[in-house]
Amino acid sequence: MSMESVANSVQLPPLDNPHERQAVGGELEVVLQELIGLSLIGKQLHWSVIGPAARSVHLFLDELVGEWRELADVVAERAVTLGFVPDGQASAVSDGSRVEPVPVRSVVDHAVIWELARRVAAAAERVRERLARIGAADLVTQDVLVDVVRKLEQQQWLLRVQLGDRA
Ligand SMILES: [Fe+2]
Repeated sequence: MSMESVANSVQLPPLDNPHERQAVGGELEVVLQELIGLSLIGKQLHWSVIGPAARSVHLFLDELVGEWRELADVVAERAVTLGFVPDGQASAVSDGSRVEPVPVRSVVDHAVIWELARRVAAAAERVRERLARIGAADLVTQDVLVDVVRKLEQQQWLLRVQLGDRA
């Protein structure tokens, strides 16, 4: 073994199939961009919510934004751990995230919950679709994304219960 390959094997975790390093990094990058996309619409709605439940929705939104930012950090750091530097800047997020933008105007509280519930559910589904493919390449990365899906699906439930009979 050359010095260089020893150094590489010390610095980077071995994947089952090292050729998939780029592919796994790319999948993590898209998930990162989705999470940043969610955190941006979350803040937008945190500012634009109106109505009788505005205060509680306003506060709830900051909790969700905090959770999305934390998850984004874990996902990005998993990518760099594998030797892939993901792009979490505005232009990359606007290309990579499929989170639908929200209207730029005041939005009534129950409509905020409904709009969010749809987007969180869709994002959870998109990350879920990646799980099997990522698991085939790297189980440890799959574990990171399982945490993301678990959190998004829990948020989906918390949003759904707030809709009550509107769900
Ligand atoms: Fe605020």
